[in-house]
Amino acid sequence: MTAPLLEIRRAVRHFDTPAGRVRAVDDVSLSIQPGETLGLVGESGCGKSTLARLAMKLVPPQSGAILFEGDDVATANRATLARYRARMQMVFQDPLSALNPRESIFRILEQPLLVHRRGDRAARQARIAQLLQQVGLRPEVALRYPHELSGGQRQRVGIARALALEPRLLLCDEAVSALDVSVRAQVLNLLLRLRAELGLAALFISHDLAVVRHVADRVAVMYLGQVVEEAPRDALWQQPRHPYTRALMAATPVADPAEARARPPLPLQGELPDPIDPPAGCRFHPRCPMAEPRCRVEAPVLRAIAAGHAVACHRP
Ligand SMILES: Nc1ncnc2c1ncn2[C@@H]1O[C@H](COP(=O)(O)OP(=O)(O)O)[C@@H](O)[C@H]1O
Ligand SMILES: [Mg+2]
Repeated sequence: MTAPLLEIRRAVRHFDTPAGRVRAVDDVSLSIQPGETLGLVGESGCGKSTLARLAMKLVPPQSGAILFEGDDVATANRATLARYRARMQMVFQDPLSALNPRESIFRILEQPLLVHRRGDRAARQARIAQLLQQVGLRPEVALRYPHELSGGQRQRVGIARALALEPRLLLCDEAVSALDVSVRAQVLNLLLRLRAELGLAALFISHDLAVVRHVADRVAVMYLGQVVEEAPRDALWQQPRHPYTRALMAATPVADPAEARARPPLPLQGELPDPIDPPAGCRFHPRCPMAEPRCRVEAPVLRAIAAGHAVACHRP
């Protein structure tokens, strides 16, 4: 294995609110290799976006470390941080809210080039033309404004902007969740193509397992601030080991009958508990059809059960 591009080591991020302490990210370790796409799934509220924001240093971790290309981001000097910020870019869910409505697409794409002082005006113009082409948009789109574009076109602009500084890693947070199904497939295929052409790595966050299955090489499943299972994509779908993973899968349709037989449905019971006061023992136990007394008191640790496949469950 080569050195990871991004390594998150035992990251913790809690938020103190009037109602109490939200354990948004509670001791999470993950790594992404160059060129690899790690999918991150879990119900809304389980801490996925907070983890992405930790990776971007938009919020600092309370403990743990974030390493990008081997540098500890928390203690990085300004030059390292600037390079890190350029080499890791976010693509958000709602392209319209992420784009300034008063700026033309040209200005929106020019912004990161100006901030990072990339090239003179002619070089920037050439780069913007190239970016539009890479994401499958016509050159005239540069003259338009965000509200004049369709949702799919806007998300392509969001991706072009993320690519402007030639990143090594894209953090895609529900990047296709707001799009219509047909447009979603087109944007996912664009991301797959860009990944192959540019050798990009990605953290691909989605509450939708079908989407993650389409793009990820490896998948981490989060529940209430913790990773409960992590595996190569195919291994996860062939043999999901955590009852939560199986429950998430049960909620998505299966096309392959052999696969449907291999993992009988295990429906998810109840609602996501309040993250302010997570259940003792295994956080999933109140919703788990397989829970035994031990699960109520003893938190299972994430441990390897096969090559690259880890699960946090007393009864995997
Ligand atoms: N700035 C914040 N202040 C207080 N609570 C927050 C903040 N950001 C996120 N949270 C809480 O942390 C938990 C995880 O949120 P989030 O990371 O957005 O989850 P996800 O992206 O998986 O839906 C939620 O309970 C959310 O309400
Ligand atoms: Mg989120």
